[in-house]
Amino acid sequence: MNQFFTIIISMKTLFESYKDYFRVGAAISGIILMNDEEKAEHFEHMKARYEDFKKNFKPTPEFPEFKFPEPKPFPKGDMPDKELAASQFNLVVAENECKMGSVYHKGPDGKPFFDFAAADRLRDFAKKNRQDMRWHTLVWHNQSPKWIFENADGSKVSKDELEDRLKNYIFTVGERYRDDICSVDVVNECISDKNFVLRDGADRSQWFDILGPDYVDKAFFWAKEAFPKSSLVINDYNLEMVPGKREGMYKLLKGMLERGVPVDTVGLQMHINIEYPPVSEIEKTIELYGSLGLKVIVTEMEISMYADKEQNEGKFEPRKEYTPELLAKQADRYEEIFECFKKEARAGILKDVILWGITDRMSWKNGFPVPGRTDAPLLFDGEGKPKAAFDRLCK
Ligand code: XIL
Repeated sequence: MNQFFTIIISMKTLFESYKDYFRVGAAISGIILMNDEEKAEHFEHMKARYEDFKKNFKPTPEFPEFKFPEPKPFPKGDMPDKELAASQFNLVVAENECKMGSVYHKGPDGKPFFDFAAADRLRDFAKKNRQDMRWHTLVWHNQSPKWIFENADGSKVSKDELEDRLKNYIFTVGERYRDDICSVDVVNECISDKNFVLRDGADRSQWFDILGPDYVDKAFFWAKEAFPKSSLVINDYNLEMVPGKREGMYKLLKGMLERGVPVDTVGLQMHINIEYPPVSEIEKTIELYGSLGLKVIVTEMEISMYADKEQNEGKFEPRKEYTPELLAKQADRYEEIFECFKKEARAGILKDVILWGITDRMSWKNGFPVPGRTDAPLLFDGEGKPKAAFDRLCK
């Protein structure tokens, strides 16, 4: 008999902890799948952006001096995010690489062409790790290429031409990925924060401006043809935070369903924070859309350390220390919200929960809404070590 005892500590992974309820996904930054050369090149762009930011910095009461940390080069070899992405999650989505601006380009001959290299890389990663994959996103007012709304002379393109370009995009993506994609964000962020109806041209949607209000319905009908087996999602932020926006989305969906539009799922982005919203509002939101017979998925969750209560007045909190007390509070928030998710999954409404990133180092919240203010909204710290919130969720 072996004189040494082997102690096997069996710790459940994140997705295993919820396998009876919902898939647990993560947004994957393309950077973590890059090789060392690509990472070094990407870092040069980041440095240039930082220098620009420094040059154009204007002091505010919260940030009287430029004290933002310089970007650090990415480590050589695999970053911790990559191993965690493969082991802790059973669903992935590209943080940027499947947006229209990343894949749909105009060549020097004026003809559109597609670059699927980064999207393919994520698809291959997902296949290798036996994970499902989502597509984010087909129609969005942000991160769309500028050329798509313009004629060769820079004037505004006609409705017919823009419809053709959009259809070409949707059907080309569908042809390539339809068998690999479990759900598609067909339309992203279409509800205005001003009046809670469809975001229009004055509110930065060139889709609405040129195609008119029925672009949403049309995009869903085309997506249904292009991705016949995927679930079709309308995705937006602050639905759990702002009751008026939640209602606005409800009205839009009710009309869409009456018109026979094939939307089947509402995506709640859930970029929430350490104070807001209370879990009761999250529950109410999920159940409201469930009452329409729709499924709900949480598409981009993180819990920021900053509530920024006065952000409507343009005021933001200065950088704070992430004390053990604050990290424990974040863990409490994650835990109570995931308990609510379990309840809504049992009710048959909630299907997936996706976090918008893996380690705090890579979170987009380090630059948003305050450039340079680092945040700590995810389940793993900058080095990839599990935070209190992770331990609390894996039980
Ligand atoms: C963000 C990415 O995380 C950033 O890297 C990028 O610079 C901007 O976009 N809502 C969405 C996501 O639907 O696509 C956004 O992702 C975050 C807000």
